[in-house]
Amino acid sequence: MKPTPLIAGNWKMNFLPSEAVRWLESFVEQLELVPHQHADILLNAPFTHLLPLAELAEGTPVRIGAQDVSPHQAGAYTGEVSGPMLKDVGATFVIVGHSERRAYHAEDDTLVNAKIIAARTESLVPILCVGESEAQREAGEALPVVLGQLEADLQGVSLRSSGELVIAYEPVWAIGTGKTASADDAQEMCAAIRSALKRLFPRLADDMRVLYGGSMNPENAGELLSKPDVNGGLIGGASLKIDSLLAIIEAAA
Ligand code: 13P
Repeated sequence: MKPTPLIAGNWKMNFLPSEAVRWLESFVEQLELVPHQHADILLNAPFTHLLPLAELAEGTPVRIGAQDVSPHQAGAYTGEVSGPMLKDVGATFVIVGHSERRAYHAEDDTLVNAKIIAARTESLVPILCVGESEAQREAGEALPVVLGQLEADLQGVSLRSSGELVIAYEPVWAIGTGKTASADDAQEMCAAIRSALKRLFPRLADDMRVLYGGSMNPENAGELLSKPDVNGGLIGGASLKIDSLLAIIEAAA
């Protein structure tokens, strides 16, 4: 049986905290009017938004996550935010290794691996992002690049249950570009990711969630989410609009 789809917004650096609170109030009201019980719903917000959003989301179907975590637990790391801090304000998930952080903040697989372990230490669920660049895909290297990231990023990670880790396949060339991987290409890569997960976590991989991310929108979500190894979406631009996110949730049914 397919795992329950996870529809996860990645708000990136958008909305003021006060705007985010109004957005969530309105979203929760409108969510009640559409079928949504078939999916888990998550919003990954900037650090400054987490506390008010998590308080507001309590008792609703919406869960709140962060977009990054320090590999350290506490100490002299100016500007960093730790796993214990995220947990304390009510975040339950955290995006790790997003391609924007790999590109603009020089995050390599060693750091991403340390962040995954830091998140797990606090029982946060990491959403590990992997994906190839356009040049890598054109050179026929997409598969080894993605599987190489996966293996390096998950070194020494042990899991007790399938819900403790989520993988997001996010081809870099599809992020924020309006270009989407075809549903067949997304399926092929997500299936390859699951095969690799079977080697790492033999008992759990069938039930682990592998998401697709990259210009997912209400028009293409239904086809992408219908694929057997695509268990949800990590959604940037379209998660900022209530109508679009609700339409993607409906498409996951
Ligand atoms: P877009 O949906 O805006 O392409 O962003 C995808 C993404 O980076 C999600 O993490």
